Amino acid sequence: MKDILTAPFVEEMKATTANMYRLGWDERNGGNISYLLDEKEVAEYLDINNVIREIPTGFNAEPLIGKIFIVTGSGKYFKNVINDPVNNLGIIRIAEDGTTAQLLWGFADGGRFTSELPAHLMSHMARLSVDPENRVIMHCHPTNTLAMNYIHELDEKKLTHTLWEMCTECIVVFPDGVGVLPWMLCGTNSIGEATAEKMKEFRLVVWGMHGIYGAGKTMDETFGLIETVEKAAQIYMLTAHMPRINTIKDAEMQELAEFFGVQYRKDFLNL
Ligand code: 13P
Ligand code: ZN
Repeated sequence: MKDILTAPFVEEMKATTANMYRLGWDERNGGNISYLLDEKEVAEYLDINNVIREIPTGFNAEPLIGKIFIVTGSGKYFKNVINDPVNNLGIIRIAEDGTTAQLLWGFADGGRFTSELPAHLMSHMARLSVDPENRVIMHCHPTNTLAMNYIHELDEKKLTHTLWEMCTECIVVFPDGVGVLPWMLCGTNSIGEATAEKMKEFRLVVWGMHGIYGAGKTMDETFGLIETVEKAAQIYMLTAHMPRINTIKDAEMQELAEFFGVQYRKDFLNL
């Protein structure tokens, strides 16, 4: 059996949480990540028949029965993951009943998975239904994205359009746009269901005045989506209080999307 602390998926979780903390997206225990793992790969590092604890999830994740995820812990600080993965991360498998998480590794101090597990697992189900290769769901509180929530209308078309205008590459990176939810109570099944509904259409979902969710095939792709939104929001926050003299026109955004061959939300442009 190989040493789990050398597993590439543990390394990725360590590197990503450290990076997100460094960027100021995850103060205190803010943010959470879930990463769908390959059972065969996990079995190289763990006895997958050894269940350490069973933890009820409080919702039904039937399509994910038998699936294994590495997830961040509830109340755990992203800044600490790199030096103490076994207490801050956990590997869970969804049990046969669809409503229990079997702990296979981690949460060593008695902790449990993120309070946002409903939003994560429901989003995995939603993304897998439209993209069988989706593996990562990531949530964080990026500063400029959050700041923008207070001064910009929380409307999917308007918010996406403004973000697309802020950097040339935006429409190419997230041509499907950004879904938006109003402020809702977090950590609940309701916000999970609402997020998952949006995830059928979008890989990015803003939680009004809270943060953002991203979904992708890899850690890099998911991180890159949020990073690009945050960069656009930063440009917006640096310029919103000043007269706008130049902008990327809708016809130019269309030109970009067509040149790079991406399927974009035409209805989010005013052509
Ligand atoms: P957890 O510490 O439970 O992951 O919660 C952090 C968070 O960002 C809630 O939305
Ligand atoms: Zn949060």
